[in-house]
Amino acid sequence: GKDLLTCQDLSRDEIWLIFETTKEMKHAYYRGERPRLLEGKNLGMIFEEPSTRTRVSFEVAMSQLGGHALYLRPGELHLGVRETIADTARVLSRYLDGIMARLLKHETLEELAKHATIPVINGLTDWFHPVQALTDVYTMLEKFGDLKKIKVAFFGDATNVANSLLVLTSRLGMNFTFCGPKKYWPKERVMKMVEENVAETGANIEITEDIDKAIKDANVVYTDLWWWVGQEHEAEERKAAFQPYQVNSNLMKRAAKNAVFMHCLPAARGMEVTDDVIDGPWSIVWDQAENRLHVEKAILVLLMG
Ligand code: CP
Repeated sequence: GKDLLTCQDLSRDEIWLIFETTKEMKHAYYRGERPRLLEGKNLGMIFEEPSTRTRVSFEVAMSQLGGHALYLRPGELHLGVRETIADTARVLSRYLDGIMARLLKHETLEELAKHATIPVINGLTDWFHPVQALTDVYTMLEKFGDLKKIKVAFFGDATNVANSLLVLTSRLGMNFTFCGPKKYWPKERVMKMVEENVAETGANIEITEDIDKAIKDANVVYTDLWWWVGQEHEAEERKAAFQPYQVNSNLMKRAAKNAVFMHCLPAARGMEVTDDVIDGPWSIVWDQAENRLHVEKAILVLLMG
């Protein structure tokens, strides 16, 4: 089956189909319609890491579409332990109609997808979070109407979310600035995808340490956690490096007049973002979190329907 491992797997037509389907799903939901488009279908959800949004929204997405989701928590599968990843993929393909997986290593996801005969969806790996990026750009489309007319400024670390946003915005020919300390800039694996996309779409992608340059005329100000699991030992060093890039009201006031604040959540309040921003008039983070659900319904229907 067709997989969604990175945004680079999607053609521009497929990305726009996801956005259009998401809009239909969301509007239908608010009209009280509950089309059972995945009646009788089963999604396996494999988690090697904790999750609030991904776990709950995918499970609810399947339920709203009349299907079923199985939650497989860390340690519940023989995923490379006592059974090869390939054999697990072959067996799961006989039971399920799709897999959504949050795995520590992107390579594990690639191995799983290589041997599965059903669609595999990336629910976040160490490298990418494509469903989040699709949700974020869909949310920008909903708020601004024209993706070509906005400037997106991301502050902080080259997280899996930042990587996916770089890939997706470059693929769509958007204007995206990544701003953070040089030591934590996006890696070559991501920049190669970005360069391929820029050559095709003419997207304006900037990578900079210069906060003034990044915030100037920004319509979307985005940040993510400054660290994630496995990097706690670096916490002090990272905190010092990223502190100047904190999204606070002083920074927001330097953005475009109509600027919004976005965060994939969970947020470390007082670290990468202050309370007055995340709880203030700029913030659209709760709409953004809700849109995960509608984007996931679109992806599930398109891949498994
Ligand atoms: N944004 C996101 O993926 O959140 P969870 O870690 O709660 O799934």
